[in-house]
Amino acid sequence: MKAPLSEFLMEDLLEEHRFSARFNAGESGHRAQSLGSLLTGLQPDFNFNLQDALSEVMLSDAPNMGQEQLRSLVAQLHPGASPENVLITTGTSEALLLLLRQLRPRKLALIAPAFQLLSEIPCSLGAEILPLPVRWNALGHPEAPIDAWVNAIQANKPDVFIFNHPHNPSGLLLSQQHIEMLLAASASVNCVVIGDEHYRFLSRPVPEPGPTLYARGRFVTGSFIKCAGTPGLRIGWCVGDAQVLQAMQSEKNYLTHTVNPISQLIATWFLQSLQRSNGFFSVLHSEWLENKRTFAQWKSKQDLWNGFEPAGGLVSCVFPRGSLQAAEAGSGLHPSVTSFAALRERGVFLLPLSTFEQTFYSDVALSLGFRLGFGLSTAQFKQMLSVMVRSDL
Ligand SMILES: Cc1ncc(COP(=O)(O)O)c(C=O)c1O
Repeated sequence: MKAPLSEFLMEDLLEEHRFSARFNAGESGHRAQSLGSLLTGLQPDFNFNLQDALSEVMLSDAPNMGQEQLRSLVAQLHPGASPENVLITTGTSEALLLLLRQLRPRKLALIAPAFQLLSEIPCSLGAEILPLPVRWNALGHPEAPIDAWVNAIQANKPDVFIFNHPHNPSGLLLSQQHIEMLLAASASVNCVVIGDEHYRFLSRPVPEPGPTLYARGRFVTGSFIKCAGTPGLRIGWCVGDAQVLQAMQSEKNYLTHTVNPISQLIATWFLQSLQRSNGFFSVLHSEWLENKRTFAQWKSKQDLWNGFEPAGGLVSCVFPRGSLQAAEAGSGLHPSVTSFAALRERGVFLLPLSTFEQTFYSDVALSLGFRLGFGLSTAQFKQMLSVMVRSDL
């Protein structure tokens, strides 16, 4: 029997390697935090004991749309939204699934390659996909050919555009001018924009969320769980038209129904802490900046790899040096092409870009590159980069 959804290529590989690799840079989030370290990190922002407060949580069903205080905090992150415009979901994945089932796109535009869910769910609903392909130049720098994207939107008239920004897997962050151009092109063909803002919390030089794509008539899905190293909280949200959210919630009753009240309480504390001294998240944000600096220095001192640190989010892509030029010149793979297996033998797990092959991207970059996560501790990240340039590779 054919499964309604294709195999989630990246997830299988992540599951296989995430617990055994010494350097797990295949992930797209910050290194996981223990519950204890999260609570200890948040505690200075509260005048009651968080551990005690947790033990008082009633393990009842939470309100169907999400806890009021959490919805209100999420609304504050999206100027123009009020709590009725917020649905709390089990991860961003659930928000996207429910929203796409409501919007039922006929033709869906996305920046490709993409997180597989963004193309697979619309396809399963019968949508045609319009890929807006990222271009990596010979040095492995990701570029958005914005005029081509705008023309593609205007010529093909998609009815939904999932605008994943910052972008996974390229680490691209667009200028405000380019964002406006894409939004204007979408508006000109009545295309509904969904901003997938999973990496919004790591997109600025300061530990504050970057600007949102939210506005009346658009939708945003997001979370902080990857940026904060707490994916196990499985908190996500959708912000948008209240009636559409109600319909999503009605479907949600058949899935996860309500979201775990413990997770919602911790998410509330996390967002409140962001508004206070923000001690917990500032540390992770500094580590992100430091890993980006480390990568930039490393890159200029070695001759095996090309690539760039992410402008936003926790992932970008690396390519064996020379491989992109060689492919462009049609001369086959560069001799220094480093295989997944060779890296893995040395304890390094990077995600081959070929795991994005289902997402309507056909450039050769997919067969050459790896997605590299910037969420390891600063010490581990440095160590991993030094292993990646060992001469025996
Ligand atoms: C761009 C993007 N959107 C959505 C998701 C789904 O995230 P979640 O773990 O919150 O379900 C991910 C996860 O990696 C992602 O990278």
